[in-house]
Amino acid sequence: FDSLPKVDADVIVIGSGIAGLFTALKASESHQVLLITKKSLLDSNTQHAQGGIAAVISDEDSPEYHSQDTLMAGAGLCSHDAVDVLVHEGPSGVRELIQFGTEFDLENGELALTREGAHSQRRILHAHGDATGAEIVRALSEKVRSHPNIELWDDHFVIDLLTADNGECIGALVQKQDNSRVLVYGNATVLCTGGAGQLYRYTTNPDVATGDGIGLAYRAGAIIQDMEFIQFHPTSLCYPGAPRFLISEAVRGEGAYLRNIRGERFMERYHELLELAPRDIVARAIVSEMEETRSTYVYIDVTHESEEMVKHRFPTIYEYCMKFGLDLSSDWIPVAPAAHYMMGGIQTDLHGETNVKRLFACGEVSSTGVHGANRLASNSLSEAIVFGRRIIERIHSLKRLTEHEKKIAIRPEDQLNRTELPIQPTVERKLKLQKVMLRQVGLKRSAQTLQKGLEELSRQLAIFNNQLTRREEYEFTNLLICALLSAEAALRREESRGGHYREDFPNREDQVWLKHIQFLREQGIL
Ligand code: SIN
Repeated sequence: FDSLPKVDADVIVIGSGIAGLFTALKASESHQVLLITKKSLLDSNTQHAQGGIAAVISDEDSPEYHSQDTLMAGAGLCSHDAVDVLVHEGPSGVRELIQFGTEFDLENGELALTREGAHSQRRILHAHGDATGAEIVRALSEKVRSHPNIELWDDHFVIDLLTADNGECIGALVQKQDNSRVLVYGNATVLCTGGAGQLYRYTTNPDVATGDGIGLAYRAGAIIQDMEFIQFHPTSLCYPGAPRFLISEAVRGEGAYLRNIRGERFMERYHELLELAPRDIVARAIVSEMEETRSTYVYIDVTHESEEMVKHRFPTIYEYCMKFGLDLSSDWIPVAPAAHYMMGGIQTDLHGETNVKRLFACGEVSSTGVHGANRLASNSLSEAIVFGRRIIERIHSLKRLTEHEKKIAIRPEDQLNRTELPIQPTVERKLKLQKVMLRQVGLKRSAQTLQKGLEELSRQLAIFNNQLTRREEYEFTNLLICALLSAEAALRREESRGGHYREDFPNREDQVWLKHIQFLREQGIL
């Protein structure tokens, strides 16, 4: 251990979606920052975000309306304080993104605003029509790359967090491109590692979304909560040979219909807001229609809108569908739900701090209380900037780590000094895990499916060789932790709420279940 090279940083930021990039930039105003990302700055969920970023910009809108919509979607489990922070601080956060160089679309010289599901007002800013995330990443990463106070380590993987005897997080153990390892010490460590869409066979998330931050934080003693609440996006492209590409909710926001394979519009049978009902309701309605018509998809139909509008407003989606011979302006596009967003994660306070001192979480990996049981569309990018700013305010007041405090308590899960092993077939095992999650811990669950799912996942754990050396093995471990926490939480919550639907407990039970299911490793299930 002592022979490993050591590096010091004021602030360590892990992950490089909007949360990581923005937090690193804010931190760099007064600290030396080390930004670590396991692939490149272009590999994140943010890069793929289409619809936009929600904030109260229009005179017809107000923080109260935004709050009501967020609380309604969150189905009783949002923290009112966290939502207040989001809706009041979102607009200045957006202004800061603009100062950092993000170019949002304009209409008549003003910021253009669209609507998405369960929003009562037009409050979604977008860029290049439907490439909002890519524009934000472009602007922020240009700044990050040129900032003298930010050192970027791409293609570096964080194996574990370093914890001191007093339980504080004092840094991270990092594997470099050449597989050598380094200990990084920091006064503060901010996890911005995004979600775990790779839990599912069908997901809108890229390969990097393997729940690493949850695994790291759980092993370091942080509280993980709300893992039963996984959001499935209702409309991902479902076409032979095509990846599950996102067909933005903004397409429905601009008037698209959903039709079953008989050509019938069906949402009126499910919700008064029709195609713009909350996501969980639309996703389950689609699954019911698929079951009813024995089909693997439904259609999204925007053919009644003008070709110019469709091409101008949704250039990325238009071009992507065209690659498969599907013309968004004149064809009905086959779609089905796919795993999209993790509402739960590492529990934090209103300044993004976890129960582990000096450890912070920001963005999808965190559970600030903003999303409750179901995230309102486009609130995730806003959450990342608002809480990223607050994290840095808190970090300013932290005392510096002394040399004496940089003593690592070697934990049992420490991965060092393990021998090289033959290559493990992690690809097959990941596929197996994804199938278990889809079949047993999917959009509709029951005690029966969940128990079966947990048994199968536990078998995976039992045969898992914990002598790890390769990045894919660490990722698989993190994914397995997320899968087990998610299945266990889903089994414990005997009701249906937001993104969690139990066929054997189909009703929402406020008297019993207005509470969070939390996991702590010391008391935990792993
Ligand atoms: C979308 O464009 O539909 C995704 C937006 C979001 O998930 O917030």
